[in-house]
Amino acid sequence: DWQMGGYIDEAVAKIREQVGDEEVILGLSGGVDSSVAAALIHRAIGDQLTCVFVDHGLLRLNEGDAVMEMFAGKLHARVIRVDASELFLGELAGVTDPEQKRKIIGRLFVDVFKAEAAKLKAGTEGHKGENGSRAVKGATFLAQGTIYPDVVESGGTKTKKATTIKSHHNVGGLPEQLGLKLLEPLRELFKDEVRALGVALGLPHDMVYRHPFPGPGLGVRILGEVKKEYADLLRRADAIFIEELRNTIDPATGKSWYELTSQAFTVFLPVKSVGVMGDGRTYDYVVALRAVQTSDFMTADWAELPYAMLKRTSGRIINEVRGINRVTYDVSSKPPATIEWE
Ligand code: XMP
Repeated sequence: DWQMGGYIDEAVAKIREQVGDEEVILGLSGGVDSSVAAALIHRAIGDQLTCVFVDHGLLRLNEGDAVMEMFAGKLHARVIRVDASELFLGELAGVTDPEQKRKIIGRLFVDVFKAEAAKLKAGTEGHKGENGSRAVKGATFLAQGTIYPDVVESGGTKTKKATTIKSHHNVGGLPEQLGLKLLEPLRELFKDEVRALGVALGLPHDMVYRHPFPGPGLGVRILGEVKKEYADLLRRADAIFIEELRNTIDPATGKSWYELTSQAFTVFLPVKSVGVMGDGRTYDYVVALRAVQTSDFMTADWAELPYAMLKRTSGRIINEVRGINRVTYDVSSKPPATIEWE
């Protein structure tokens, strides 16, 4: 809209002034904040921006390709995709404790990003990105999609939970460690403003209005040890659940059940149960569907999804994903249950 257009012009001018003819690196995760920051900075300085997208192999179905298609394909931004899935899966082998898994994923993520950023800082000649190679004279800025609530939280203005139940990884201190200056063009915006900005910059509505997805990704949605086999089954089951949520419209509100829920996903349970298919007996894995409604993610109610939708989803998962023969629905609210299962 008109107002947003004015805002974009101003923000673009500010970024150009701050950056001058220097180079900027940004860690792209596919999440809303880093995506909008990337689109805005790219609008301002084009090829002076290089995005680094670390793929830990724990993303959802086709998610990595979708990020590349959007940023490298449609926006023509310079994006380096680092496929680190083997590294992550290797380090996670045999690890079952949820906090341990979070720590490993967080540490590797920082390591991989830092290594890539160091190359860009050094101005590696002809660094090979998905978008072709080019001599980069050496980056001096690190851009982050920090938004206003993040600023307030780290400033201590907002009271933090007395006890941290789950460790979260926001990559603090990276610019200092890398010796880069910080560029944070979304610092003054609230989440709904970031979303509106994303749409105005041409990002697809579905990308900008997505449910939150945890940094450790499917790593905390596969209970216990993370294996590629489990991640592959989970990705396919989850894609079916999300598709059904998007396609099922609530007649009372005219909204999809994806919009009517705050977060919805599938959890992989590494247990097998007996089933029957045709003339045979099956002995396969179980998944749980989780869907909640919440305004602050501190407390949450399980969503009263229509039975017909649950039935369709379960039927499709069991029919289409060989290896899963049972689907359950999680009817626990937070507290005492948390939203994620780990
Ligand atoms: P819980 O499971 O604690 O989750 O009720 C509350 C919200 O936080 C998200 N979450 C995470 N986000 N890294 C993240 O970036 C994490 O390790 C993590 N653990 C939970 C969760 O998806 C929900 O939105």
